[in-house]
Amino acid sequence: MNHAAETWAMLVRASVDNKHPWRTPALCTQGVDGPNARHVVLRKVLPDAATLVFFTDHRSQKMQDLAQCDKVSLVFWNPKSNTQLRVWGTVRVEADVSQVDQYWARVPDHARRDYATLSAPGSVLNTDSDQAHDMSLAREYFTVLLVDVQRMDCLQLSREGHQRWAAERNRQGGWITQNLVP
Ligand SMILES: Cc1cc2nc3c(=O)[nH]c(=O)nc-3n(C[C@H](O)[C@H](O)[C@H](O)COP(=O)(O)O)c2cc1C
Repeated sequence: MNHAAETWAMLVRASVDNKHPWRTPALCTQGVDGPNARHVVLRKVLPDAATLVFFTDHRSQKMQDLAQCDKVSLVFWNPKSNTQLRVWGTVRVEADVSQVDQYWARVPDHARRDYATLSAPGSVLNTDSDQAHDMSLAREYFTVLLVDVQRMDCLQLSREGHQRWAAERNRQGGWITQNLVP
């Protein structure tokens, strides 16, 4: 397998393994106030489409950032293999309601609460009622983000010598890979 194919296989593994270090990358958006990074859970990986799937609340700051600029970067770090992966791509909101319903069906009840707060995520807490939930709202705020990856850069640290490569997706959906000076 080549570098890009191995990396997509690893991302698939991370998306189904809660304990995989690549399961919670940092997602960096570009908002009106500049770059904004936060961790998110990698929910699903579609290697053939080069797409990464994430869930969020429609009311979160990242959605406002994405309305300004749909370009994002993500960084993954695996301390066991000493491997950093950076990817760059463009975000779409999943508009196919049946697809969103399928993802929602797999969200357990306790996690559904995350999308059911009456006040938007990041709102100032003044009273206890600001923390109230209404489960009937959760599905409405639940949002599926699709990151279409265009470029990757991978750095593997090693005492024997670091290794770095970059890959760019071509029009045919293949990956053009080049080794780089670390
Ligand atoms: C390990 C970890 C996983 C997280 N996963 C998600 C996630 O999948 N989706 C999400 O919207 N926020 C997730 N969060 C919370 C975000 O990091 C962030 O605090 C929240 O989304 C608000 O970010 P925003 O105001 O920039 O939109 C996670 C936080 C941590 C620490």
